[in-house]
Amino acid sequence: MFFLKEKSVPLTTFFNDSFVDIHSHLLPGIDDGAKNIEHTISLISKMKSYGIKNFITTPHVLGDVYPNTSIIINEKLEVVRDVLNKSGYNDININAAAEYMMDEKFSELLEKNDILTLKENFVLVEMSYFNAPYNLYEVLFEIQLKGYKPVLAHPERYIFYHNDFQNYYKLKKSGCLFQLNLLSLTEQYGKGVKNTAEKLIKENLYDFVGTDTHHENHLRLLKKIGTKKNYKKIENLLKNNTKFLI
Ligand SMILES: [Fe+2]
Repeated sequence: MFFLKEKSVPLTTFFNDSFVDIHSHLLPGIDDGAKNIEHTISLISKMKSYGIKNFITTPHVLGDVYPNTSIIINEKLEVVRDVLNKSGYNDININAAAEYMMDEKFSELLEKNDILTLKENFVLVEMSYFNAPYNLYEVLFEIQLKGYKPVLAHPERYIFYHNDFQNYYKLKKSGCLFQLNLLSLTEQYGKGVKNTAEKLIKENLYDFVGTDTHHENHLRLLKKIGTKKNYKKIENLLKNNTKFLI
């Protein structure tokens, strides 16, 4: 008896020169991602070896836990750009936005128009893994009233939606775009998340992908997505990410 091994594909096939990773935590010391500038450079260097050269990195903005402001984020971005230049990473293109938790603080920022967008009017938002905010649909409405387009990070990870798939259609109908975490194609976040991701792909509900890289372990696991089958599944989504190239 023999088993057919899934045909593996290098990650450089997934990520061409125009691919932009729109979700990661690479700015040093301001959230649960890169710890310091050395860590930032080491993560970027690893990602470069996978073919990823364009980044819109997205530190958490989350109440008092990660009270990052646009000023803090932009200052850190400049530090990273400077060190990348001095270290000879001239082919790396890095910008910064944020991953906004849809909480009260976010509503305040929205009110003040103090929002960092991925590009144009796209805003990366997330919610708690335990429950959706009580006023979710009001917040989504407010975002759009202000002229922004909400891009919901990793919808497959909200397990409270798993047993009623209609929730996802409702979110899309309310103007949400969906960003798949590439690691959800592995069992990193559990089987339920993987199955939901597969279903959302099948139903064509995703718009973009992101690595959501926080540390080396994520990058080690990312190699697992490198199969021909996965490539076929998300080929179109990978192409969509090129729209963020500046
Ligand atoms: Fe994230």
